[in-house]
Amino acid sequence: MPVSVLPASRAPFRGVRPASRFRRALPVLPAFLAAILAASPWTAARAASGAELYAQQCAMCHQADLKGLAGQYPPLGGRVDKIMATPEGRHYLADLLTHGMSGPIQAGGAAFAGYMPAFKQLSDSDIAAILDYVSDQGGTKPAPHLDAAEIAAARGRPLNVRSVLEERGALDAAHKLP
Ligand code: HEC
Repeated sequence: MPVSVLPASRAPFRGVRPASRFRRALPVLPAFLAAILAASPWTAARAASGAELYAQQCAMCHQADLKGLAGQYPPLGGRVDKIMATPEGRHYLADLLTHGMSGPIQAGGAAFAGYMPAFKQLSDSDIAAILDYVSDQGGTKPAPHLDAAEIAAARGRPLNVRSVLEERGALDAAHKLP
């Protein structure tokens, strides 16, 4: 005997057995769940995480407006999107975020000689999300993005703050850095 929570007379589809009604609803279940996920605040929070992570991890040095601080921290806004436009540039950014960098550089027409810490403690996807957020703030449309797999590959490379500085020098010679 079919089990129903509604008396047969009040069931919305009179004559349709509850079990077959459930089977008919099954194919739309994934779409229904996807719609709930897309509308949920949880998904909205994930989408904002690049900006949030930048605020937590980077803004104290490079500043909330991404303009850096004269003589101390290089500007990132309008520069990282250009650096990310080439494969070598993405390679450098992935190496930089996973190994750090120290030594004199020219950035945005000004000189800096500081220490950029490594962010090994963050996940590959978090690092990619931060760099994508910074790239999005530049003028390049569509803004280049990088893949979490590119960050994962960088982790395994034997680098240090000095060799990343050398990599930047080679990159600058091949594709003049902004
Ligand atoms: C403690 C301060 C500090 C923090 C925090 C910091 N940076 Fe840096 N960053 C620097 C300094 C200093 C340099 C320049 C290093 C040098 O002169 O060799 C730099 C360089 C860079 C560069 C290279 C710019 C170029 O022209 O090649 C990028 C990109 C960058 N930082 C991104 C980030 C991101 C993204 C975060 C957050 C995940 C971050 N930084 C967090 C201090 C910081």
